[in-house]
Amino acid sequence: MGSSLAFLLGVLQLLAATMAAYKKWIPNTNFETTSNWDKGRVPCASDVIHFEKDEVVSVFVRSTHALTDMYLPLNGEFLLASGSGFTAFDGSWDPGCGSGAVLSFGNAEQHSWFNPELWQDVSSRVDLEPAGRIFLLDEERVPCQYDHVIFQPETSFRVNLDSSRRVIPVQSISLMGQELSSAEAWAEYLRGPSAAWQFHGNATLQVTGTRCPHSSGCACGNSQDGDRICASLLRAEGCPALSCHSPLRPLGHCCGVCGAVVTLDFKPEFDLQQYRDRVVQAWLSLPRYAGVQMAISKVHRAQTFLGLLPRSSTPVIQIVLVDGEAGTQTGTAAEQLAADIMGDIAQHGEALGIPGGSVEVATGSALGGQAAIHASRQIASGTVLGLLFALLLLGALLYLHKKGKLRYGQGPCSSVWLMLDIRKNGFLERAAMHRHRLPREVGGITIHPWRCSGAMEMWH
Ligand SMILES: *[C@@H]1O[C@H](CO)[C@@H](O)[C@H](O)[C@H]1NC(C)=O
Repeated sequence: MGSSLAFLLGVLQLLAATMAAYKKWIPNTNFETTSNWDKGRVPCASDVIHFEKDEVVSVFVRSTHALTDMYLPLNGEFLLASGSGFTAFDGSWDPGCGSGAVLSFGNAEQHSWFNPELWQDVSSRVDLEPAGRIFLLDEERVPCQYDHVIFQPETSFRVNLDSSRRVIPVQSISLMGQELSSAEAWAEYLRGPSAAWQFHGNATLQVTGTRCPHSSGCACGNSQDGDRICASLLRAEGCPALSCHSPLRPLGHCCGVCGAVVTLDFKPEFDLQQYRDRVVQAWLSLPRYAGVQMAISKVHRAQTFLGLLPRSSTPVIQIVLVDGEAGTQTGTAAEQLAADIMGDIAQHGEALGIPGGSVEVATGSALGGQAAIHASRQIASGTVLGLLFALLLLGALLYLHKKGKLRYGQGPCSSVWLMLDIRKNGFLERAAMHRHRLPREVGGITIHPWRCSGAMEMWH
């Protein structure tokens, strides 16, 4: 009994020490996602499917679709789930989707890695954190340098990695239900066929496999891309109006807030996770602070020389407290909690490894600052699926024009997508899907089978 309790505590401490968050990418480029189509529905048999010629796409296909015509881009891939595929619509059967329309696949180019709204924090924290009471600074809503990144199984996606940095480090990346947590595993993935369709932009992702080495926590590391993050988040709208007197500007956050910001110095022995649990257990669970939300993290504060030029940066612990109070009460609960925190530090600061700190407060006469709240959620465990084929189009505008039903994708590499050709006299010609394994000529067009290897294949 005693030993199992000790074991449990050990596990909890281990989990607490890691502090890494799990961030899940929300959008996908799946064929069956209605919002990916301009008409807000998935194409049916009599529709004409249109991918822009210059669009670069990776499209996951979950089930079988009958098609009339499909225009494919010059570059891209289809990922066919086991049992999925396309069949040619022979015109004899109307599935009840009307006389057909032209459906265009939405442009996936705009989805930026640095848009906080495209990420969901799915960390399942094992401590006693009251749900929804801890929020993340905007820069932390995008994966931090020691975070785990999850791309959901059975989805395709395309992410723009334009960054002010050349390299964006993360601890691990999960793709198709498989976690890649070493530089080698990631390098191997990058050499595979899909990475080029999934990631574009001028930075590269780096999987370090290392977690934050300091008990005092690690800064998120996204501040160099802070402007990019805020531009994505706010677009044209700008920050919401706040009516507290001179709103506070927490580091790492895009908009001002009403409430309190506590800034703490720390010594090497300071333990961020333990301290956070202390704040949560001592105050955040009290009814009188029921409306207060907290963000706590290590941030880098710029030091200025003579109050003018930025000179260097010092790491500090920043606690942002906002509350749901209104009117003249705005920020008062947060202010009170900040005072309690400072009182605790005056008393126990030595033992906690906190030599001192400061508080800024903004209270007012109207609604307080609104900050984004992220509830912790369990990580959805996806099934690992059989990924069958990557259909890659290079230099081909595919034009499905075959009468009669054809069925593809019945099992791993047991049937074949045929890539059709291609170029005639240097011009793009139509391509069609076919089920033979060997290259052959049809009406002057050479048809090539797409192999299961997944490697890029060139043909002439
Ligand atoms: C990458 O491109 C963006 C424009 O999208 C630019 O602002 C940024 O400075 C570039 N980054 C590097 C490292 O060149």
